Amino acid sequence: MNPTVNIAIRAARAAGKVLLRYYDRLDQVKVQTKSRNDFVSEVDRSAEQVIIQELRARFPSHAILAEESGAQGEGDYQWVIDPLDGTANYLHGFPQFSVSIALRVRGQLECAVVYDPLREELYTAARGEGAQLNDRRLRVAGRPSLDGALIGTGFPFRDQRHIDAYLGMFKDMTLSTAGLRRPGSAALDLAYVAAGRTDGFWELGLSPWDFAAGALLITEAGGTVTDLSGGTRYFDTCNLVAGNLKVHQAMLELIGPHLSDALRA
Ligand code: IPD
Ligand code: CA
Ligand code: CA
Repeated sequence: MNPTVNIAIRAARAAGKVLLRYYDRLDQVKVQTKSRNDFVSEVDRSAEQVIIQELRARFPSHAILAEESGAQGEGDYQWVIDPLDGTANYLHGFPQFSVSIALRVRGQLECAVVYDPLREELYTAARGEGAQLNDRRLRVAGRPSLDGALIGTGFPFRDQRHIDAYLGMFKDMTLSTAGLRRPGSAALDLAYVAAGRTDGFWELGLSPWDFAAGALLITEAGGTVTDLSGGTRYFDTCNLVAGNLKVHQAMLELIGPHLSDALRA
C-alpha cells in the first residue's frame, strides 16, 4: 500500500471513531447554524482536529484545506479534508455519511481516502495505482448508455441560484434513466460511481472537500470526471459530472441545453 495513503487511512479511521462515538447519543450533540441549511456540530470539529493532528504529525510542512478550519499553510502539497460529509444525514441519524481526505500536489490529485464508518467501507486510491474498496480493486460500471442507468445526484438545498437549471436537468435525467438517487454524502456518491454501484453522478455548487477524494477514486477506477461543460476546471466551478466515458458523454449532452452562461463558465 502506498505509504502516504496509509497515513490518510489512519487519519480517516481515527475520524470515523469520533463519528461513531457521538452517533449513539445524537440528542446531546451541540449544533450551530453556519448559514441557511448549513450546520456544523462539535462532531465535525473534533473529527477534523483528529485528522489534522494525524497528518501534521507525519507531514508538518504540508498545507491543509479543511471544511471547518479553512486553509492553513501553503506550498506544493495540500490536504483537502471533509471530516464529516453528510452532516445533515448524520444529525438526523440517517445512516449515510463519510470521512473524505485527499492530497493534491501542485494542484494534481495524488491520494484519496473516503471512509464509511457504519459499513466499514474504506475506499482508497493513489494516482496511477488504481482504486480499491477495502482490498478489492474498483472499476466503474460498463453500461454503454443512460438506458437502464442508476444515477446519483445532490439537490441544491443551500444556494438556489441555479434551481431552475438543475430541475431541467433532473427532469431529463429522470426521463432518460432507470432512476436517480440522492443519498446525501457527495464523497460517498462519487465512491459509488468508482465502485460501479451507480453509473454516474452530477451535482452543482459543491466544495473542493466534498469531491477531491471521490474524483480521484473515479479516475483511478477508469471513469471520467469533468465540469458541466466537459472541461477539467471542476475545482474552479465546483460543479461535477462523472461516469464511465459513454455514460458521462450522454450526461453532458443531456445537461448542456440547461446551462446558463454562469454554469457554462
Ligand atoms: C454536503 C453533502 C451533500 C451535498 C452538499 C454537501 P456536508 O456536505 O456532500 O451530499 O449535496 O452539497 O455540502 O455539508 O454534509 O459536509
Ligand atoms: Ca461535504
Ligand atoms: Ca462536512
